[in-house]
Amino acid sequence: MKITVVGAGYVGLVTATCFAELGNHVLCVEKIESHLNKLKKGIPHIYEPGLEEMLKKNLEEGRIKFSTDIKEAINFSEVIFICVGTPQSDSGKADLSQVEAVSRQIAEFMDGYKLVIEKSTVPVNTHQWVKKTISRYAASDLDFDVASNPEFLREGSAVFDFMNPDRIVAGVESDRARQIFEELYEPFTKKGHPLLMTSPAAAELIKHSANSFLAMKISYINMIAQLCEKVGVDVNMIAQGIGLDERVGAKFLNAGIGYGGSCFPKDVKAFIKIAEDHGLEFGLLRETEKINANMRRVFLDKVEEILWINKDKHIAVWGLAFKPGTDDIREAPAIDIVGELVKNGANLRLYDPEAAANFKQLFPENENLQYVNDKYSALENADALLIITEWDEFQEADLDRVKKLMKLPIIIDGRNIFPPEKMQGFEYYSMGR
Ligand code: UDX
Repeated sequence: MKITVVGAGYVGLVTATCFAELGNHVLCVEKIESHLNKLKKGIPHIYEPGLEEMLKKNLEEGRIKFSTDIKEAINFSEVIFICVGTPQSDSGKADLSQVEAVSRQIAEFMDGYKLVIEKSTVPVNTHQWVKKTISRYAASDLDFDVASNPEFLREGSAVFDFMNPDRIVAGVESDRARQIFEELYEPFTKKGHPLLMTSPAAAELIKHSANSFLAMKISYINMIAQLCEKVGVDVNMIAQGIGLDERVGAKFLNAGIGYGGSCFPKDVKAFIKIAEDHGLEFGLLRETEKINANMRRVFLDKVEEILWINKDKHIAVWGLAFKPGTDDIREAPAIDIVGELVKNGANLRLYDPEAAANFKQLFPENENLQYVNDKYSALENADALLIITEWDEFQEADLDRVKKLMKLPIIIDGRNIFPPEKMQGFEYYSMGR
């Protein structure tokens, strides 16, 4: 099939590349020239495992093209994915101005039937606005459908998630749209991945409900972790004990310093606002946010309790990205934690395999804050090591070497990456254990 993707951010670029990999012909339109220039050479402007190789291959084989020309893109195919940003506005609501702008461009340039598919995360009933906008601004009375097809991919495993979806949700209103979805996703349904057809409103709501539920699950286990510390129980035992119940499920019960990233914080906030706009107070999600924000404080209090005075202490920090497998630092716990330690006058050595360049923009290097190129260099002469992101390479660290390099063998682990029983010879602290 021929497919147009508008927006080459995380979702757009992964969607475009993976659809090309599946044998479709994809035209991806992106307005940021610097990103576009890299993409045309097969270099993604984001770090995502497996993406660069797949992009290069599909560029070479001629199945994916990039352009800034929206008219060309709209005329290219009858299937148009809207993958533009829906950032958080000051009120917490999603800012939908880019979605509106694309809808107006589709209205202006459409040259035949179009299936317009929202993939960006949007508030419920946004599809009605997209429909109304296209109808209002349409230069002709050509037929079109608007559908919702939310994306559930995780950063750091986006390509894998796209190719191995737990489910595909398609919110459609016409048989024509339904048939296009069946064809589009046939490579997945053939292999047994479920394609759930719903109304567009239900599909929009599924995305916010799913992300908020997962965020709530994390805050729930983090609250339990705090209780575990008070009563001397290991939170991992609780996670296992409740996770084995299939009704609860074992995933997303890793206690630690809480969630960050471009989705959970923004989507939970937006969902609270959506409920409020419909006269409902979503206290459950407000509490989810509160617990999550507090986990950073809990970690910092622990650091202070263990080190007493932070000023002039040499502290190594492992991990800056909001999660492993990405260079993304949006809403990363490391921002608050490093920020507070800087304020307290600590001497920091920071290491992250991918996210240091982004972090440097917020915290430039100075005599008290240095970035290093490998995890061991961060440890020289350190009074303590803080673990903020659970990269695999930290779990695989040579602990004897770690101990030798540090001035004091103190590890404060915000992600519970080591089994406490393996930490003899260290003063090892973690979350809820
Ligand atoms: C999330 C959703 O998982 C995905 O379906 C959606 O499309 C986009 O938002 P993402 O933000 O990339 O994906 O990462 P995810 O793996 O979900 O982790 C989010 C945050 O929660 C990270 O900061 C992670 O460290 C934290 N987390 C996750 C926990 O603290 N504990 C857990 O058990 C799981």
